[in-house]
Order: sequence, then C-alpha cells, then structure tokens
Amino acid sequence: MEGQHGRPQAGASPAQPRRVSAEFADRLGRVAPSRLSETLGTLVLTLHQLSDDLNLTPAELRAAIEFLTEVGHAADPRRQEWVLLADALGLSSLLDDLSCPRPSGATPNTVAGPFYRADAPDLPLGADLSRDGKGVPLAVRGQITALGGAPLSAALVEVWQANAEGKYENQEPDRQPEHNLRGRFRTDSQGRFGFRSVMPRGYALPSDGPVGRLMQALGLCLERPAHLHFRVSAKGHETLVTHIFDRADAAIGRDAIFGVKPELLADFLPAPNPAAGRLLDVNLVLCPLRQSGSETEETT
Ligand code: BEZ
Ligand code: FE
Repeated sequence: MEGQHGRPQAGASPAQPRRVSAEFADRLGRVAPSRLSETLGTLVLTLHQLSDDLNLTPAELRAAIEFLTEVGHAADPRRQEWVLLADALGLSSLLDDLSCPRPSGATPNTVAGPFYRADAPDLPLGADLSRDGKGVPLAVRGQITALGGAPLSAALVEVWQANAEGKYENQEPDRQPEHNLRGRFRTDSQGRFGFRSVMPRGYALPSDGPVGRLMQALGLCLERPAHLHFRVSAKGHETLVTHIFDRADAAIGRDAIFGVKPELLADFLPAPNPAAGRLLDVNLVLCPLRQSGSETEETT
C-alpha cells in the first residue's frame, strides 16, 4: 500500500529506517580518512536525511537527475551552466564570503563572474574604456588605499563592465569591439586612478538554459543590478575582486547571485554639465596579506 508520495505507508512493511545510511557511513568509516571521504560522507548523509525529511520519491529523484543532465549538456567552453547553477543558488557568493572574510574597513570581495578577461589592455590613466562610444558618458575616479588609509601606488586596477544594453563584449564578439569596456590601470603615487566609460546597464542571467528555466519556473529573479567590476592587486595585499553597484538601480535589492553588499553601493551622480553624463567616485580598501592567505596574493 502506497502513501501520498508513492511510499509505503507506515505499517505496510517492516521499516528498516536508514539502513542504507548506516551502511554507507560504516563503509566510508573503513576507508583512509581524507578531505574527500569526509566531504562525501557529509554530503551523502545529508542527502539521505533530506530525502527522508522531504519524503522524496523515486520519480522526483529521476526529475532531479534529468535536470542535472540538462545542466551538463548546456555547459560548453563558452557557457558554464554549472557555475551559473552555483551562482543562482547563492553557493558562489556564500563560499566567497566564507573563504575571504575581510576585516572591518576593507572593501568586501565578490565573485568575479564569467566575463573577466586577464588579457585586457593596459591603458593610461584617464583613458576611455568605450571603444564604440555608445551610451551615457561616465567619468570614474578613485583611490586605492590600505587599511588605515595609506595610498597604494602602482596597484594594478582591472576594470570590466557591461555596455548600455547590459552585454559584455565577450558575449557578443560580432557586435562590440574587442576589449570594449575593459582595461587595466596603474595607480599614481597617491594611489589614484581614473578613466572614462559609459553607464553600465543591469542584465539578466541567461534564461534559455536549465538554470534560467528553473529560476523562472520558481518565479525567482534573474536580474543583476548595474555594476562595474574591479580586480585590484598590490604588493603585500590580498587581491580584491569586487563590484561597485548603482544604488539607484531598481533591481538593487534582488541581485540574482547575491553579490550586493552595503559597502559596494555607489551613487552615479549627474555631472554639473549634463553633456558630461555621470560621475562616480570609487574608493577601494585592500587588506594586508595574511600568512594563511598567500594564495590570494597576485604578482603585480
Ligand atoms: C557578472 O557579474 O558578470 C556575473 C556574475 C555571475 C554570474 C553571471 C554574471
Ligand atoms: Fe557583471
């Protein structure tokens, strides 16, 4: 006799609750302990517990396997649907927060996302990132400092952003010039940098794959509020990868990947001369390299 979820009802057969869980734990307990065995053990036993708690049915397990199979088929060298899944579930941002806690006063880290390119051109301070001139002009000026306020000269500031239509140049190589809206700068002796650009537009995560379809089926938001990406490296400091978000963007409270943090909100203010577009001030604070955090140091 089956219950509502396709499971035998209590009393229909002698229950052997969680026999498999106990055996799995027992088998894993006999292999050489390692990070992998510990992680797999916790993952599997958590999944067993979850299946029990949710009364998961074999049909639901098959549906989950079908979904994950679709995610695998949607991933290719140009599109990482697995990373998108981790982003949309909040896992990427959660792990980033857990693994890169920054002391108070230091600018928080965020995920780099899929559109970063390490081969962006080196540009002189004041250069224009826009190679097609399309969009509302934006002048950005900023300073990189250490905790405590000391300016960091010769820091490497890498910038990338979406265009006025919410697209990165590497998403549409046939429509935007190579390296449009990305560049690398060195701070001056006062830790200052500046460049011209255009106002970025927010965008939605792709909805044409299994992850997007899942989010839409649930009624969850795919939007990302408008932002600039920064990656800053300086000798003796942890590399900072972060976003600066437009506080005025309507989607600021519902970023699909959970990247918005209060310290990263900024005002893209109208310039005194309206033809000059918008002005943005960005101050980013790096934290000193910690002994255990040497893997985050970058060669500058
Ligand atoms: C981005 O900000 O470029 C991004 C980050 C995660 C997923 C998709 C896009
Ligand atoms: Fe982005």
